[in-house]
Amino acid sequence: MIKLGVNIDHAASLRQARGTVYPDIVQAAAYAEEAGADGITVHLREDRRHIQERDVRALRKSIRTRLNLEMADNPDVLAVALEVVPDEVCMVPERRQELTTEGGLDVDAQRGHLAATVRALQAKGVVVSMFIDPDLNQVEASAAIGAEYIELHTGTYANADAEGRKAELERLANAAVRARDLGLKVNAGHGLDYANLAPILAIPGLDTLNIGHSIICRAVFCGLRDAVREMLRTIGRG
Ligand code: PXP
Repeated sequence: MIKLGVNIDHAASLRQARGTVYPDIVQAAAYAEEAGADGITVHLREDRRHIQERDVRALRKSIRTRLNLEMADNPDVLAVALEVVPDEVCMVPERRQELTTEGGLDVDAQRGHLAATVRALQAKGVVVSMFIDPDLNQVEASAAIGAEYIELHTGTYANADAEGRKAELERLANAAVRARDLGLKVNAGHGLDYANLAPILAIPGLDTLNIGHSIICRAVFCGLRDAVREMLRTIGRG
């Protein structure tokens, strides 16, 4: 059974767009859980463009599934993570000007620094994942620094034409197989929607899909619970 992590960053984007107190992020997480989400994901970005520290603290208290915090390898955000202690942390690259996370983390080039961050989080009992492109060097580097999970970046797949998608699916499957051989668990996410998801389900041994933007967009029309339920059906659940 593939699990669904619902990323609620863009509920916070709507709130931040007007500086209001609504929509309520804690309520968003509760609706996603009520509809069957296996976990809630938020990205505390350095520029705080959507999720705020107070959201992470409130979610830590309210959610009943698992809290997955996406973060860059940045000392200020690490301090928040070590204090709040999410169930999981997914290390991601971050550039201030980007619209969203573009490309995976270069774990291979930053082994020393990332290994120290992984150790600090694991010492608190946090499960750590590396958000990487489906590149075997990055898979091997993630295993070498002691991460328990990788999350495969599916953005290239999502943005490709039919031919490109075929090639990218093969890279994703090969990376997943290598990761599992090395004892890593495999998540995937980014750019996945109700229409492009089905072929991704064939990646061997997938643990969790983390999906945000498409679910929040669907929720604008049909409500968050129905949008999550429909995504669960799309991944073959419920
Ligand atoms: N996984 C990671 C590591 C991400 O950074 C994001 C975007 O915040 C997602 C999954 C979800 O991507 P999307 O919002 O395109 O579904």
